[in-house]
Amino acid sequence: MCGIVGYIGKREAWPILIKGLERLEYRGYDSAGVALMQKDSLLVYKKKGKVSELKNFVGDKNVISGVGIAHTRWATHGEPSDVNAHPQKSNSGEIAVVHNGIIENYLSIKKALIEKGYHFESATDTEVLANLIEDIKKNTHSNLDEAVRFALQEAVGAYAIAVLSADEPNTIIVAKNGSPVVIGIGDQEYFIASDATPIIEYTDKVIYLDDLEMAIIKDGNLTVKTIKNEIKNPYIQKLEMKIEELEKGGFPHFMLKEIYEQPRSIRDSMRGRINIQDGLVKLGGIEKYEDKLLNAKRIIILACGTSWHAGLEAKYFFEELAKVPVYVEHASEFRYRSPVIYDNDLVIAISQSGETADTLAALNLAKEKGATVFGVCNVVGSSIPRATHAGSYTHAGPEIGVASTKAFTAQMTVLLLMCLFLASSKGELSKKQMQDILSELDGIPEKIEKALKTNEEIKKIALKLKDAENFIYLGRGYGFPLALEGALKLKEISYIHAEGCPAGEMKHGPIALVDENMPVVFIANKGNSYEKLISNMMEVKARKGIIIAIISEGDTHVKEIADFVIEIPETSDVLMPFVASIPFQLLAYHIALLRGCDIDKPRNLAKSVTVE
Ligand code: F6R
Repeated sequence: MCGIVGYIGKREAWPILIKGLERLEYRGYDSAGVALMQKDSLLVYKKKGKVSELKNFVGDKNVISGVGIAHTRWATHGEPSDVNAHPQKSNSGEIAVVHNGIIENYLSIKKALIEKGYHFESATDTEVLANLIEDIKKNTHSNLDEAVRFALQEAVGAYAIAVLSADEPNTIIVAKNGSPVVIGIGDQEYFIASDATPIIEYTDKVIYLDDLEMAIIKDGNLTVKTIKNEIKNPYIQKLEMKIEELEKGGFPHFMLKEIYEQPRSIRDSMRGRINIQDGLVKLGGIEKYEDKLLNAKRIIILACGTSWHAGLEAKYFFEELAKVPVYVEHASEFRYRSPVIYDNDLVIAISQSGETADTLAALNLAKEKGATVFGVCNVVGSSIPRATHAGSYTHAGPEIGVASTKAFTAQMTVLLLMCLFLASSKGELSKKQMQDILSELDGIPEKIEKALKTNEEIKKIALKLKDAENFIYLGRGYGFPLALEGALKLKEISYIHAEGCPAGEMKHGPIALVDENMPVVFIANKGNSYEKLISNMMEVKARKGIIIAIISEGDTHVKEIADFVIEIPETSDVLMPFVASIPFQLLAYHIALLRGCDIDKPRNLAKSVTVE
């Protein structure tokens, strides 16, 4: 939610900032803006809408500067507008701030500043922070870094900020609490960004600030300290990311590219972790805490959105294969309840971005209550893996399309591996059973390649259904979380209302919605629930619903019942969700495309949800 970028050094800042904003646009696209340092003043351009609109607005205006900060916004305080866009300036126009997060006590600070004569143009909490810094700077006659430090001692809430002051033209101050920020270190130049994607093409040396830390970049030098003024010796990390991973590689949208990447991303998430011959799984990241997993009486999964759906699939994995009860919690609910946690509970926090505020807060609550917490995250070095005791990364590579696709299947891969490790260590699965599951898992990328070949067929189905106003998705067992995920994918990118539901629950309510205009998508692969699903399908057919069925290759029975079928390679129940995810993702993609939606940047959404 909101992306910040900054540059200070010997190059032109503008192209670096704009390219950086484009890379971070997945974090929000309600408005974009830059502040460029001039000799003794700040040049600020900002515009409602996407980065492309900012570029058009700036056109050939002056952008010459070697120091600047920039922002792409997901609106929280104040509607999307030019005035509410960042950078926000102080009353004198001398201080500019870009901010990702929320200053929770901004109203009381604002009130105090108004009493001192300050006025406010925007509805943002960030303008309050800019004026607080200005007020402190003037009254204490301090440098920018000290003024920011004092201001942050007053501010309560989450922030990643970058600050400029017109009277210190060779300085950028960066600070963090709760929201992420990375600083790239070049040769006498520094790059600042909410994640490493805007930095990777200039340097692979980065530091991640910790909470309540600030970086003072001044006259070519970098100092890191806490906001309590303790000097820190930052750890410089090497980035492993590749630049090609951040580009569309010939695909019209990141989402489509990421759907097609799944054979690779699943392989990468398994690589080095499975030994089929010996029927073994090895997860280096949890080795030190293996006993906590082995002795867990129950597992609590914390996640949001698509990651929550991966967690729900994991419940089915762990309960069937490892015989451990699993509770899957919406992080946003868990954190505000009084959850009961026992010493021998193991908590798993799942998050693609590793930055989701609710998941982070929920896992911190579980930690406070004494639980051991594992993370299953995609973004290396992000906040959640740093807050957990142990964990395993999903090696899906950067996911840029706002709708999560390859992260979902990579999360399921890692969760299944954790489950298999536990099941075999506990003796719930024999060596032979482990060998069988692992070798089938190893073959999943190939089955996904085949499932991707349904693309043309799905395009035709999408053309017939694109004008539907509602959809129902039904599944049983491993197909139920998938039904939820299928519905979520469709609604978030096509804006069609869609509901996922256990097929057996349909008769308890949702069936009232079925008529000749209602498309009902069934996950009807050959498996444990096949016969029952056919009965549910007949119930929909009797009410003239439009049936779209995802079936196992060669199933002729469902073909006779359904209006449309999508055939996917047959797999065991446990591994079905990996293959059956593909048609869901493609169906949502093609319907959204035909409806003219902005697929990679759906309205009102952002990829990294760093607000509650
Ligand atoms: C759906 C989607 C969201 C995220 C959710 C959690 O396509 O992307 O529902 O899954 O915001 O995000 P992470 O996994 O980053 O914690």
